[in-house]
Amino acid sequence: MNALKDKTVIVGVSGGIAAYKVCGLVSKLVQSGATVHVAMTRNATEFVAPLSFETLSHNRVITDTFDRNFTWEVEHVSLAKKADAVIIAPATANVVAKLAHGIADDFLTTAVLACKCPIMFAPAMNTAMFDNAVVRENIGALVKRGFVPVYGECGYLACGDVGGGRMAEPDVIFTRLDGLFDKRSDHAGKTVLVTAGATRIDIDPVRYVSNRSSGKMGYALACAAHDRGANVVFVKGFTDDFDIPSSWTVENVRTTREMLAAVKKHADKTDMFIMAAAPCDYETKVTAQKIKSAALELKLTKAPDIAAWVGEHKNKKKLVIFAAETDDCESNARKKLAAKHADMVVLNDVTESGAGFDVDTNVATLITSQTTERQSLMQKRELADVILDKLITL
Ligand SMILES: Cc1cc2nc3c(=O)[nH]c(=O)nc-3n(C[C@H](O)[C@H](O)[C@H](O)COP(=O)(O)O)c2cc1C
Repeated sequence: MNALKDKTVIVGVSGGIAAYKVCGLVSKLVQSGATVHVAMTRNATEFVAPLSFETLSHNRVITDTFDRNFTWEVEHVSLAKKADAVIIAPATANVVAKLAHGIADDFLTTAVLACKCPIMFAPAMNTAMFDNAVVRENIGALVKRGFVPVYGECGYLACGDVGGGRMAEPDVIFTRLDGLFDKRSDHAGKTVLVTAGATRIDIDPVRYVSNRSSGKMGYALACAAHDRGANVVFVKGFTDDFDIPSSWTVENVRTTREMLAAVKKHADKTDMFIMAAAPCDYETKVTAQKIKSAALELKLTKAPDIAAWVGEHKNKKKLVIFAAETDDCESNARKKLAAKHADMVVLNDVTESGAGFDVDTNVATLITSQTTERQSLMQKRELADVILDKLITL
């Protein structure tokens, strides 16, 4: 992919320790043929000297809204008009808060608020800051307004903490930027319904049985479909906490029966069904009172099969299902493909490292009636695009 050639990209750098990593991103953007303008906050210049970004971008770095030494144009407006995309990386808690509230008190925030092009941001901060409710709200507010977040994986942070808040790696940010232009509208006009997360088997008023699905793969697919122009219906069981754009239709469900009902409700207007959820296959009779017996034996019966229902009723619409397997993987996945009348099964061997539940990466094999394509380890968001690429050819 090199859709960034001849595009103008503003790279907004704010004052976080990850600013040094953005040198690599700027270099890669320039090498891909993009024109890059770096805007830095004053605090960002404490971390990396503007000279580094000037040398890498071949353009003057701008920090000061009132700089009158260079051009007669109102620079934040002229740059905003030229831009095809903006990436703010690292996006500090401070810059996120300012943009979420429309504050434009330096060049970076002023220029970004003047931009009409797609705006991505890569939050980067200490884990406690990242988990702080006000920061989450501000990130959520930006996402609702159409800013596209690029999150890093949990891991070691410069402050010594281990957790969320790490900036996404420059390669991941580059791929996401490239994807903006590469296939921005190939799903335009289509409605994509994605199921995500776990459902629960209620046992009594306080207890339930569930599974380990985080919903990350489903969320990545919904984001990819959204970025490619689709209308998204997101049928959400229990998942991690995601920022959801206001344009999505969201159905929050608790049980497998509720998930099926939500899928049925939207089935007529859906063009592509992507069943990435892990609905519980079983259900039981919920007792009215809390169970107090010493031992508990559950009688589970089969819950309704959502993918099978879609397979029976989809006509010419497309159906993608997921198979999380531990043994005899391909043959089990092929059986599932045929049994559910699906167009593609995404097979995860959950015994492989980096695959399956609760991680940001996945190793998958895309199986159709004619083909078997094993993918290498990649980010779930990248895999989501690979799945949509394949789906659109079926
Ligand atoms: C060594 C150091 C590292 C910092 N790293 C971060 C960071 O990763 N993320 C963040 O939100 N703030 C970080 N801060 C705090 C910001 O620099 C501070 O909130 C500043 O006001 C941000 O300004 P800006 O958003 O205008 O660039 C750091 C501060 C220091 C001294």
